Amino acid sequence: MLTNKITTIERHITEEQQVHKGATGEFSRLMRDLTLAIRIISREVRRAGLNDILGLTDAYNVHGENQKKLDTYANDVIFRAMDHGGHLCVMGSEESDDLIQIPEPYEHGKYVLLYDPLDGSSNIDVNATIGTIFSVYRRVTPDYLGKGTMDDVLQPGWHQVAAGYACYGSSTQLIYTTGHGVNIFTYDPTVGEFFLSSANVRIPKSGKYYSINEGNSSLWSDELKRYIEYLKTPSEDNKRPMGLRYIGSAVADIHRTLLYGGIFIYPADRKSPRGKLRLMYEANPLAMIIEQAGGRATDGVKRILELQPTELHERVPLYIGSEDNVLEAERFLRGEES
Ligand code: AHG
Ligand code: MN
Ligand code: MN
Repeated sequence: MLTNKITTIERHITEEQQVHKGATGEFSRLMRDLTLAIRIISREVRRAGLNDILGLTDAYNVHGENQKKLDTYANDVIFRAMDHGGHLCVMGSEESDDLIQIPEPYEHGKYVLLYDPLDGSSNIDVNATIGTIFSVYRRVTPDYLGKGTMDDVLQPGWHQVAAGYACYGSSTQLIYTTGHGVNIFTYDPTVGEFFLSSANVRIPKSGKYYSINEGNSSLWSDELKRYIEYLKTPSEDNKRPMGLRYIGSAVADIHRTLLYGGIFIYPADRKSPRGKLRLMYEANPLAMIIEQAGGRATDGVKRILELQPTELHERVPLYIGSEDNVLEAERFLRGEES
């Protein structure tokens, strides 16, 4: 639904906070700093081909993958925008092995921030859509302890107080929820503001696209193979064959799924028994967005948001998208359809 009022993200967050009694403004300040980081990353993404920022650094991250320069840059920008606001007690990032502590002399606050600074980094060099994913929790350890601990970080996804992603595509957009529906903000670089462009977005109940790295099909379970074969088999009601779309950026693939419906899958397979995506800063925030839009997100069996995490960087299989499509995939995985 298009809105006709001109609403900046800052105003939207302030108005949302005003309905919560006892809100101190700490959360609004957190989001203001985070959107500043996203604006800076967006500027750098837009200039990527121009200032020779492309290419690999020598460093490897905790997953043994080469870090692109933009990953490192985005990681630094988020840290430097968020470390001194006084609203966070600890951070965690895909690109940092350990928890990121708030440096002296800055104050500690009541929130935890987890992020994937640049998602889809293999797409940087080919000018395709990439993103930034974030997840916010309230700390569970007492405030007087100052710095946050692993207990503050390892909370199930349903505890998230906010989650979202920035999508650096044909425009830069911010997709965001605080648990009261999903709103999309579009960035206008000429005025440096995110404007509300779609309010209360709903994912279609079913859709025509499936999204999975089909190159891995020889590694899949028989149940998953049968499901994907089924999606490709024509049906009388014309719902099948479904179209295949796969960019290789979870943000881009799930953003399309949010708007057009369908299903995105990053499954467990013989080579990666826990899949590839990370629970804390990819699956959980993306699951919160999709659920808040009326969709469904599971690991094939269990709801993503109810999984109890045990490690900052743990991986999880992901089945996410329109409710009907994800339920159907789950039935195939249980061997109930063939
Ligand atoms: P990142 O760039 O943060 O490492 O994430 C890449 C992820 C995700 O965005 C995408 O869905 C997936 O990797 C693609 O993996 P495959 O190349 O194995 O399909
Ligand atoms: Mn990622
Ligand atoms: Mn990343």
